[in-house]
Amino acid sequence: MSVVDEIKQKLDIVDIVSQHVRLMKSGQNFKGLCPFHAEKDASFYVYPQQQSWHCFGSCGTGGDIFTFIMKKEGVDFAEALRRLSETAGIALETRRQGEEEDKETDKLREVNAAAALYFHHLLVNAPEAAAARAYLGKRGATKEGIEDFQLGFSPDSWDSVIRYLADKGFSEAEITQAGLAIEKDGRRYDRFRSRLMFPIRDARGRAIGFGGRALDDAIPKYLNSPQSPVFAKGEVLYGLDRAAASIRKENMAIIVEGYMDVLAAHQHGFKNVIASMGTSLSEKQLDALKRLSKRLALALDSDAAGNAATIRGIEVATQALDRKVVPVPTWQGLVRYNYSLDADIRIITLPPGKDPDEVINESEATWTALVDGATPVVDYLMGAIASALDMGDPRDKSAAVDRLLPILAEIQDPVQQAHYLQKLARIVRVDERVLQETRSRKQAAGRRKRDPSPLPLPSPLVAARSQPIEEYCLALLLRHSELAAKASELTEGHFDHPANREVFCAWRQSLSVEALRSSLAEALHPHLDHLIGLPLPPCSEGEREAALADRLRHLEKHRLQRLKARDELFLADVLAGRSASEVSRAALTMWRSGEAHGEEIAEETRYVAEHLLRDEETGRALGKAVNPPKPEQK
Ligand code: UTP
Ligand code: MN
Repeated sequence: MSVVDEIKQKLDIVDIVSQHVRLMKSGQNFKGLCPFHAEKDASFYVYPQQQSWHCFGSCGTGGDIFTFIMKKEGVDFAEALRRLSETAGIALETRRQGEEEDKETDKLREVNAAAALYFHHLLVNAPEAAAARAYLGKRGATKEGIEDFQLGFSPDSWDSVIRYLADKGFSEAEITQAGLAIEKDGRRYDRFRSRLMFPIRDARGRAIGFGGRALDDAIPKYLNSPQSPVFAKGEVLYGLDRAAASIRKENMAIIVEGYMDVLAAHQHGFKNVIASMGTSLSEKQLDALKRLSKRLALALDSDAAGNAATIRGIEVATQALDRKVVPVPTWQGLVRYNYSLDADIRIITLPPGKDPDEVINESEATWTALVDGATPVVDYLMGAIASALDMGDPRDKSAAVDRLLPILAEIQDPVQQAHYLQKLARIVRVDERVLQETRSRKQAAGRRKRDPSPLPLPSPLVAARSQPIEEYCLALLLRHSELAAKASELTEGHFDHPANREVFCAWRQSLSVEALRSSLAEALHPHLDHLIGLPLPPCSEGEREAALADRLRHLEKHRLQRLKARDELFLADVLAGRSASEVSRAALTMWRSGEAHGEEIAEETRYVAEHLLRDEETGRALGKAVNPPKPEQK
């Protein structure tokens, strides 16, 4: 059993949640006020049977004890695991599994650390590193900066690094796997030659890779360590180990692009600066940051507004930080934009043609002013969208409104929202009341779409073979999410109609109807609408539960009838004389699909499947026994 399962077995979700939420009994389950959003009516449910929780209110989230602790305490999975294992009294340290892996990755970090020391020693002392030292001096690097970041120099040689590391007891395989050597035609060479070396460290300060800058115009300008079990460029943030404390203290992280920018910033005392290393931000990188601070500022080129990478960066940033997601059409296509109140994302626009390192080295005051004047992301997006359109052209005006209104709709604070609505009105030079009306109209249209229409048209998919009981069941579950707990025994095997089966599978994995819709193939959307629109008689919660239980009994009966009929058909096949391997293959397929659908299979089918396929010979013999060869085949 995994630690996770062990912890889940020891702890009861009701105990864990009730330490944070006042729960009331609601049937077999519990409910209370959602701890993750402000509400007056209890829409937060805890299901002891499934050991899960779900909020049916506006936050629409759910999960198990781990996700609850992660959200409630604002910690990552590893930390939630640590805390809950403590509560459960299960020691994590005694686990062996991770230790083996750790040994391998420890070795890779050790090679990197040894190489970093070697490169640094050369940079500081070796005569051949004179040019590198001069270059750093020209770029404003100080002695302390070079020490703090352990900058180094890789010699102009094909095997110095390999020989040095081999001498230190590392194997060729380890050196190669860490990316310090390249293997070609059975020979190994130093990867980094004649470069200024920036050791890249993980959040705990352990060396995991390098960025090596050319000292001339060599291509590439930066050569980086390849992906390895300890290093993935898109996942780490350069400088995070040295910046973490300051990010927490100042409650703000500044993200720049490059190694040189981080070096310059830290040298001048701006210690909350880290680098994305030239890529647009990844979710992993933001996850690492949001534990330290929810206030982020991205330093972007002056011409970055409206460029694809920027929009993508903004999009990722806003996505990882919280839960409200809305698709926003931009001139680049559809992006998913996410806005939340507790995430404060700002954009620092750099002077034309300047990197942060140049700005900082020229004037600390200019940098401070730029940081202080950073634009909130919504304003920045408004500017970016507006500047890509012609605000004199009525069609562009309405395009801008179309793109920006959904963003503004996500702003939870009414004062802020009103502020941005006024701002949008000024940008498109349209009376604010017109925008208000457009917004209400759009909201109403959205609601109409969601509301069940009184006379739903049968969708083509269901018209052919209507399954009223299946549909009634799904309609109940879709309309009354609190019934989910009552349908825990329902499997996809209970649905004979493929469209219903698909909707059921998607429903089981989604926390909201919106999520369900987006996970469902578009072709099935009309069917989903049909189900949502089915007229249900008004009735009380108790009556609904009874109605559902009754339909579930029917579905189970039908399922068993289907299984029986299918097994009978199958045995009839065997008896009718199809070849043994043909039958066995069919049996196996049936068995597997039955398993996948959680269905039982007749003993005979299981027997045939198991034995015929395991041994074709026996199979053939058995086939003959079940089905003696006919006289004309002789
Ligand atoms: P920059 O070209 O802005 O480099 O790329 P820089 O860090 O400012 O360095 P200087 O000032 O030109 O010396 C930003 C970052 O993109 C990554 C590096 O992480 C770099 O710091 N990059 C850039 C590469 O990985 N490879 C490259 O060839 C170029
Ligand atoms: Mn630069």
